[in-house]
Amino acid sequence: MALRTPIIAGNWKLHMGPAAAGALAGYLRDALESGAGAGSGGELVVFPTALSIPSVVAALAGSAIAVGIQEVAAKPTGALTGANSAVMAREAGCTWMLTGHSERRQFFAETDEGVRDKVKAGLAAGLRVMVCIGETLDERKAGRVEEVTRRQLGVALQGVPASALAELAVAYEPVWAIGTGVTATPEQAEEAHASIRAYLRTLYPAEADALRLLYGGSVKADNAATLLGQPDIDGALVGGASLEVASFAAIVGAAGAA
Ligand code: 13P
Repeated sequence: MALRTPIIAGNWKLHMGPAAAGALAGYLRDALESGAGAGSGGELVVFPTALSIPSVVAALAGSAIAVGIQEVAAKPTGALTGANSAVMAREAGCTWMLTGHSERRQFFAETDEGVRDKVKAGLAAGLRVMVCIGETLDERKAGRVEEVTRRQLGVALQGVPASALAELAVAYEPVWAIGTGVTATPEQAEEAHASIRAYLRTLYPAEADALRLLYGGSVKADNAATLLGQPDIDGALVGGASLEVASFAAIVGAAGAA
């Protein structure tokens, strides 16, 4: 039996407006409730774009599939035109949030310190927080995977007490594997995950072994089982393949087989 309950999460990014997202959520719910992906025993989360949260929450009401917001501001409220708030996401029915995604770091100038402040905002609002970390191709080529992931995670967790660790998950997403079709090999992913967990043990000796570490980056129906079979891979954060019911349900099923 797996040591940790796997989490399979779908990051819908800027796809699926309110109507399409609500429909996709409904199809997903029907597929999973009628047995697709059966036996996974895992937790499921979808992260629609903020505007689609209400329709997805409505479509998934009473189901076991949780809803999260893709990003929040560090403050719950204020003069922050265009931002979203963790407190408001909670009110809208979210139980999770993402932060630190490489697309946010790359296109929205998110910093390690900004991610840290958002982790705090999410926890304070009662959300569970999935922190994304991962190196670029240049950083990998330069042998800096461990240094970069530890720096990103170390700053993100500054001031997070051990008592809050159960509300966190970490997603290791190598930037070069996101949306490229190039997946980290199970060995590459496991090496990074084991290093991240070793680092977490130095910070949180009693809690690190229970924390879920998800892999993200071109996870598909046909590679999910081997990735999820690695000892330190406790789930998947899925982009493209989460936008189709069949492929997402197959990944959910792979979590059960792992
Ligand atoms: P893809 O699965 O499309 O590579 O995206 C991964 C990702 O960024 C999930 O957050």
